[in-house]
Amino acid sequence: MSSSDALAKGSGRQQPEEAESEVTRRDFLNEIAAATLGVAGLGATVVTVRYLSPNVLFEPPTQFRAGAADDFPVNSVTYIRDQQVYIVRMSMGFFAVSAVCTHLGCITQWKPEENQIACPCHGSKFSREGAKLAGPAPRALPHFSVRLAPDGQLVVDKLEIVKETQVLKV
Ligand code: FES
Repeated sequence: MSSSDALAKGSGRQQPEEAESEVTRRDFLNEIAAATLGVAGLGATVVTVRYLSPNVLFEPPTQFRAGAADDFPVNSVTYIRDQQVYIVRMSMGFFAVSAVCTHLGCITQWKPEENQIACPCHGSKFSREGAKLAGPAPRALPHFSVRLAPDGQLVVDKLEIVKETQVLKV
């Protein structure tokens, strides 16, 4: 041990190597403060970006092409799954009926053996025209407008509710 080491030890001072490797309380608190500020700044940035970006809800289009009119046989009920709509073709023409139950919004099912549209949730039943026959549903299934495009395709607009008596004659 050199005389300077003995002097430093005797005076309570630390050796230079030990002082460099030790993290002081001040350094530790500075690092905590910097990390906290970093996290807060990141959070503020995320919130700001979300606030400034447009709040747009992307929904499927309400108007859709159901298929060629000739593809629907007379006296048929065809379920269009991705639109939750029945295309009904009777001898007098076409109409489109919502498949969404008017009770609590379950998707109904066409039961050809019963000639009815039935709701699996609480047992409401509807005629193929959508009229309520039984169950807790408060009203009939709504009809949507149907028109024939120049290329022979049926075009249904789910935003346009029409009377049950309105039929597309083809
Ligand atoms: S949701 Fe159809 S009967 Fe309740």
